[in-house]
Amino acid sequence: MIKTAEFIKSSGKWQDCPDPVLPEYAFIGRSNVGKSSLINAMANKKDLAKTSQTPGKTQLINHFLINEEWYLTDLPGYGYAKVSKSLRKDFEKLITQYILNRTNLVNLFVLIDIRHSPQQIDLDFMQWCGESGIPFSIVFTKADKLRGNAAVKNTEEYRKKMEEFWDELPPMYITSAEKKQGGDEILSFIEKTNQF
Ligand code: GTP
Ligand code: MG
Repeated sequence: MIKTAEFIKSSGKWQDCPDPVLPEYAFIGRSNVGKSSLINAMANKKDLAKTSQTPGKTQLINHFLINEEWYLTDLPGYGYAKVSKSLRKDFEKLITQYILNRTNLVNLFVLIDIRHSPQQIDLDFMQWCGESGIPFSIVFTKADKLRGNAAVKNTEEYRKKMEEFWDELPPMYITSAEKKQGGDEILSFIEKTNQF
């Protein structure tokens, strides 16, 4: 359970992040997928992380200290088409350098909009994580936007696609920031793994 959540700082490069002395978990995924919203829903604080209907809102690495025990990190989205190519490259560099150099990073949560069929950019990113030895889980977002068994159907399609490339599938979570759904499962995973 999240008892306290406190914004620590925004960093423009991995070298500026807080000292890596606590376990850290990061939310990553395409722009607008709902990273910042899910952090707010899990912390039960509406304006902890800044959200927007316009993609590209989060542009820095944002550190939140949870229960005075571990860091939750909100990252800029990848693959935002409307920024210039060079700016997109800058974001990608910021993200990849952070991931590869952040020694206290325990797990990445890769957020995927549950409404869409598997997108190459996400598959490529997870492939890169695998090749780089970065542990990750998949978090499907915006489940409240689907009716009936469409959510389950889409996650099954995802599972099948992943099985083409992976022998072992990562943990998967279905969430909705709107309905505050799925956050507890993510938190219990974190609580199980956040001892150094
Ligand atoms: P960037 O910082 O731009 O990379 O985006 P982000 O991934 O942090 O997305 P953000 O949390 O800002 O949410 C983007 C939009 O999706 C906002 O308009 C949110 O209100 C909406 N949204 C996020 N999560 C949910 C959800 O679970 N359900 C619904 N219906 N809308 C959501
Ligand atoms: Mg954001």
